[in-house]
Amino acid sequence: MSSKVVLKVTNISKDFGLTHALKNVSVDIGQGEIIGLIGENGSGKSTLSSIISGVYPASKGTMELDGEPYRPANPMDAQNHGISMIAQEMGTLPGIRVADNIFLGKEQLFVQKGVVNRKKMYAEAKSAMGKIGIENINPEDPITKYSLEERKLIEVVRALYSDPRIFIVDETTTALSQKGRDIIYQVIRKLKEENKTVLFISHDLEELMEVCSKLIVLRDGVFIAELQKEEFLEDRIKELMVGRKLTGDYYRSDYDGSCDEEVVLKGEDIYVGDSVKGVSLELHKGEILGIGGLTDCGMHELGKALFGNIRLLYGQVTLKDGEKITSEKQAIKHRLGYVSKNRDQEALILSASILDNIVLPSLSKLSRGGLISRKSEKEFTNHQVERLSIKCREITQDVRDLSGGNKQKVVFGKWLGNESEIFILDCPTRGIDIGVKAFMYQLMYQLKKEGKSMIMISEELPELIGMSDRILIMKDGKIQKSFERSESLNEAVLIQEMV
Ligand SMILES: Nc1ncnc2c1ncn2[C@@H]1O[C@H](COP(=O)(O)OP(=O)(O)O)[C@@H](O)[C@H]1O
Ligand SMILES: [Mg+2]
Repeated sequence: MSSKVVLKVTNISKDFGLTHALKNVSVDIGQGEIIGLIGENGSGKSTLSSIISGVYPASKGTMELDGEPYRPANPMDAQNHGISMIAQEMGTLPGIRVADNIFLGKEQLFVQKGVVNRKKMYAEAKSAMGKIGIENINPEDPITKYSLEERKLIEVVRALYSDPRIFIVDETTTALSQKGRDIIYQVIRKLKEENKTVLFISHDLEELMEVCSKLIVLRDGVFIAELQKEEFLEDRIKELMVGRKLTGDYYRSDYDGSCDEEVVLKGEDIYVGDSVKGVSLELHKGEILGIGGLTDCGMHELGKALFGNIRLLYGQVTLKDGEKITSEKQAIKHRLGYVSKNRDQEALILSASILDNIVLPSLSKLSRGGLISRKSEKEFTNHQVERLSIKCREITQDVRDLSGGNKQKVVFGKWLGNESEIFILDCPTRGIDIGVKAFMYQLMYQLKKEGKSMIMISEELPELIGMSDRILIMKDGKIQKSFERSESLNEAVLIQEMV
């Protein structure tokens, strides 16, 4: 059964300089449909949704809304046509209040006798937030008081306020905890009941398969396929996205979960700020220890603490030889590697080359009598680039221009190059497409087999279940429960301990 077409996109192309971000893409968007837009990083998903929502015009092609030519001049124009989007990049304005963010450009609604009636505006903001179940945000507060997740939800409130017929969500759920996701899912269900249309972009295939009634696959800016719900098969979709069959398993396939007895890293009664409150753990040789929880459960701070990156209020981190970790420098010296959740801010120097980033932790090793030869640096870097199949023009190019997946490979390259024995991985596959993700999982498994040890902090439950020998679930700064690797472990069981 196909529904009435509300938006017809015909032969849309978009060029950014030499980049052909979209090539002759045609799709029909039907009323009442929940459509998932899927494709690897750089496949053109954001570009397509930005054109539909008036962020920029197409280079070529046409759109029709209800049979009429549709050429939005800007996002506000698109909104007036009933189309609004939660953009992938952050969309709230700092420096102003929550309510002002919600009603940006709509202040007229509250003007009485020439002045904005703030009281009315706050009350309206409160009610708009309440409608999607947000109770703990004060519309009078400055927006900066709130976390990324809360700001994203405020954006959702803003986009919904114009009562759109087509609602576009671009990679929003990646920034949200389960609670935030549930809010989005609820919004989507409600829009569906009202026969509205949703275009949903997410990296999470399972999520898309669950929520959407139809999937559109893009690859390299080209429309590849459209699949109806009954045609959703995970392997098939991945194959369409990547353009080849992904060989082998996605996650590891064994349920053994065994590792060495030997403890390589031990955290005792760790306190950090008000985020970690008395955590003790042991990491074994050859173990992948997963740590999960809501974004604010303290797990990210714990990861930093284990790497000596933030000060402990109390407690200690020791290695197998009794050596204590009190600074990052010392951690690196003792062959610890850390992959930060905030890759672009913390794990990489974006304005430096692939080479400079990769050699950084290993400079002392590469130095001969205080000097480092360019040749040895290049050999060292080339080795990692080959080992990790980093896609780049040359090793001297800036890291900034690489795709998310290749940037993350550079981060791994840093630590592999330094022959790290212990890896602390904070959301190692965040914002990475499926092809590279599969590669990362294989790499982690191979490192495990080599006797390396890993702590994998993750907000993605399937990856925790799929890769860990053991999972610790954190809640409110403490370890709530521990789970052994098992075939019967499922997301619901973990979520129960998280919330
Ligand atoms: N504003 C821009 N300027 C230059 N190139 C861009 C811009 N936006 C996107 N691109 C390029 O267009 C391609 C498609 O990107 P995008 O639509 O963001 O993909 P996706 O959302 O699927 O990850 C990529 O090669 C990207 O680098
Ligand atoms: Mg995108």
